[in-house]
Amino acid sequence: MDEAGILRDLRAILGDRGVVADAAGMQPYLEDWTDRFHGRALAVARPASTEEVVGVVALAREHGLGLVPQGGRTSLAAGATPDASGGNLLLSLERMNRILAIDRVGLSVAVEAGAIVDTVRDALREVGRDLPISFGASGSATIGGVAATNAGGANVLRYGMTGRFVLGLEAVLADGTVVGGVTPLHKDNAGLNWPQLLVGSEGTLGIVTRAVLKIHPLNGHVCAALLSVADVATALTLYELAVDRVGERLSAFELMSGSAVRRVETALKTASPIPVSPWMLLIEAASVSASVEADFASFVEAAMEAGLVEDGTIAASGEQAAAFWRLRESLTEAEAKTGPSAKHDVSVPIAALPEFVEAATAALAELDPGLQPNVFGHVGDGNLHFNVLGVDEATRHHVNQSVHDVVASFGGSISAEHGIGQYRLEEAYRLLPDAQLRLQERLKQALDPGGLFNPGKVFRRRPE
Ligand code: MLT
Ligand code: ZN
Repeated sequence: MDEAGILRDLRAILGDRGVVADAAGMQPYLEDWTDRFHGRALAVARPASTEEVVGVVALAREHGLGLVPQGGRTSLAAGATPDASGGNLLLSLERMNRILAIDRVGLSVAVEAGAIVDTVRDALREVGRDLPISFGASGSATIGGVAATNAGGANVLRYGMTGRFVLGLEAVLADGTVVGGVTPLHKDNAGLNWPQLLVGSEGTLGIVTRAVLKIHPLNGHVCAALLSVADVATALTLYELAVDRVGERLSAFELMSGSAVRRVETALKTASPIPVSPWMLLIEAASVSASVEADFASFVEAAMEAGLVEDGTIAASGEQAAAFWRLRESLTEAEAKTGPSAKHDVSVPIAALPEFVEAATAALAELDPGLQPNVFGHVGDGNLHFNVLGVDEATRHHVNQSVHDVVASFGGSISAEHGIGQYRLEEAYRLLPDAQLRLQERLKQALDPGGLFNPGKVFRRRPE
């Protein structure tokens, strides 16, 4: 491979600012967030426009290089980390970070792919609007990344996954075609809904360069409660009550095991605002109308009167609510500080959550009684992070298989919101239905026959 020639051509397309090729400069782009996957690459391409992305795609195609798109590099499935071959170019969209248009009447925002989720939300809040995509990494994650991975988060039970916000995309395909745009149409039934094909494709079918997203009114009245419950079955009863009493204003219903909360206390020195109990819930409701506050309070009161809640409190101020969320959003960091873990991002039918937790706990105990689960997740989506502590990369496959086999017995999914990336690739090929795998392969073959985009993620490599 003529590396010097490729770098020269890359600089001709992108200018010096658009290329990082020195070891120190490239280092952060080569590691995944969990520090488990470390790759190599020829260079980092940092285009500043869609035309420049087209140029990089052409160059990669010409030289048979893989192209690994990157947003905020917060994937928990190592979806944006290159392999160790060194034969890939990284494509960081970080310089394409402009907010192009906000339409507060038409309820849409158009952005470049590298715009950071929280930056977009901050700009929308200024005009009384919001893009309720909410998770711990939203200060780094980009719109292109969350659209391409169909990211989830705490507000999914109300607003759906990221794909539900996508009104349109602009993307560069493997043959260099630029498809789509950011005209803010709420309805467009003229042909296939192809943008949704790229949603969740994790950069394997096309490079998202721009997006137009549906936005929502900013909820000026937000209520949050941190409550203790005895077990997951009670959490579910409480969820049913919340749906009845709070209705569509319910915006989060998050479950945390007491041991996961204790880990935040010890690893991050962050105290829980209420005494730690076996299971804890962070419940949020939000509305443009103040009436949500009385309804939320009466829901919590009813839960206490029914004996469903052992302890807990409603946040008395925005600061207190923020402290509840800090606790919830620190769970992953506390887990990472504790050491290596086997991650799971599973979903089962919501009503099956208690039985699933019991069955998965029993399966782990059978595998090795010393294994410690670190459980938290999103009750309203039937989505749990049934992570297991103290498991390194060499042994985590056994643990993953054991948990995923239980998931499969409930008809569940091995990735509710994080995606396949490289982390779950073998498990996807072990457990996804053959018909689905074949359909995915046919789509990949049609759109990216040369295997240019994000090699080794979602799709197995084809034999040379
Ligand atoms: C969360 O729910 O906090 C995230 O999905 C992160 C995780 O699974 O660690
Ligand atoms: Zn999650």
